[in-house]
Amino acid sequence: MTVTIVGSQLGDEGKGALVDLWGGAADVVVRYQGGDNAGHTVVEGGDEYKLSLVPSGAVRGKVGILGNGCVVNPRTLFDEIDTLRKRGLEPDVRVAERAHVIMPYHRALDGIEEEAKSDSDLDAGTTGRGIGPTYEDKAGRRGIRVGDLLDPAVLRDRLDYVVPQKRALVEEVFGLDAGEAFDVDALHEEYAAIGERLAEEGMTVDSGQYLHERHEAGDELLFEGAQGTSIDIDHGIYPYVTSSNPTAGGAAVGSGVGPTVVGQGEVVGIVKAYLSRVGTGPLPTELTGTDEPLADHIREKGGEFGTVTGRPRRIGWLDVPMLRHAARANGFTGIAVNHLDVLAGLDEVKVGHAYAFDGDEIETVPTTTEQWARCEPVLKEFEPWPEVDWTAVAEAGYEAIPENARAYLDYVSTAVGVPIYAVGVGPDRAETIELHDPFER
Ligand code: GDP
Ligand code: IMO
Ligand code: MG
Repeated sequence: MTVTIVGSQLGDEGKGALVDLWGGAADVVVRYQGGDNAGHTVVEGGDEYKLSLVPSGAVRGKVGILGNGCVVNPRTLFDEIDTLRKRGLEPDVRVAERAHVIMPYHRALDGIEEEAKSDSDLDAGTTGRGIGPTYEDKAGRRGIRVGDLLDPAVLRDRLDYVVPQKRALVEEVFGLDAGEAFDVDALHEEYAAIGERLAEEGMTVDSGQYLHERHEAGDELLFEGAQGTSIDIDHGIYPYVTSSNPTAGGAAVGSGVGPTVVGQGEVVGIVKAYLSRVGTGPLPTELTGTDEPLADHIREKGGEFGTVTGRPRRIGWLDVPMLRHAARANGFTGIAVNHLDVLAGLDEVKVGHAYAFDGDEIETVPTTTEQWARCEPVLKEFEPWPEVDWTAVAEAGYEAIPENARAYLDYVSTAVGVPIYAVGVGPDRAETIELHDPFER
């Protein structure tokens, strides 16, 4: 069967931790969208791994697939694999030949366009990894795919077409100097060599075919979503979004496994018990003004600084309309709620239960981001729960969670209409309380 892990909010919900927890029962872990904009953390016995491209199952020695829906920067992929090898892991990563390659000019263009947009507040606060420009070229049918790196003549043809256009864009539209990132010969030399390394190490696959065979043979597939529903290009707060579909439908399109297969499996939404946001755009439940000291406290306690960029994350109360929207768009069968420990010991705990919007009370997210910006949260207050020894709680199980925190969890589960499969009370694998293993149906 399949289990699909999806971010319910704005990314960084702790997806890596749950992929690691349930990855024990999986045979293959599959990323289906995004690229090295992701930063997924796995902590096992105190050892912390930060993974951007290598699927989080690597920590348990599982085969990792980067599906056709991913955008792959081979430089950062090899760096990450080398770093993990130095730490004693042997990541077995296969890259879809249909996946698109993030080229150096994509990264350069990401920075240039963010800068240009910043005058009109349209910059998304991207990770600068070239994600948007690569998906643009994919949709514009001028992208370079992993399979193209394996054939130097094809690679040459692709570069000859696209690079002069990009160079002209930089020089003539933006009036900037285009550097080495826009040099066809230099790019061809480096990327043909990368193609050779991929071929030598047997790292490329037809992801749909490979996963089909594994699934037919009875193997368990775990899909590892990156980012989150509210920064999905279709279902998120456009234009402050990423350029792919983190939502569960992306697992089919971005891997080549049919939607009927993904739909027969479980789809688990990962929920952070509050909100964190590392980019721009509105955020109705954001803790600002007199609540800033509270935001600072949560940020420090939760370590809310970008895994990829180190930027301090914006903090808000749990936004329940956002979760209802996510539950519907993804078809959640269950959720995991993380970071319950971070909210412990506060004087007050609130959630945005609904929005006040132009005189109405609404329970889900409006379609345009301008409308979303006009939403004021309708807050609901919960009895706070005390700081406790969370490691001991994790050992003892769900019933050991303070009663007020369990009331909070019950409320969240009822609001999204699905059961809770796991509760995170700390970053370590041992600090996740499992109520139900989605692979055991
Ligand atoms: P991802 O991108 O969704 O995988 O999440 P990140 O790794 O970017 O951010 C989540 C951070 O919170 C990481 O540092 C995790 O180790 C940590 N984390 C995960 N679950 C919990 C939890 O339940 N409690 C606490 N305190 N930290 C957690
Ligand atoms: P994980 O997988 C949180 C945000 C960026 C920016 C927007 C577009 O770790 O949850 P991009 O570089 O993708 O073009 O940036 O999306 N963003 C993330 N925020 N977690 C992530 O990944 C993110 N990946 C991208 O901050 O607002
Ligand atoms: Mg992250």
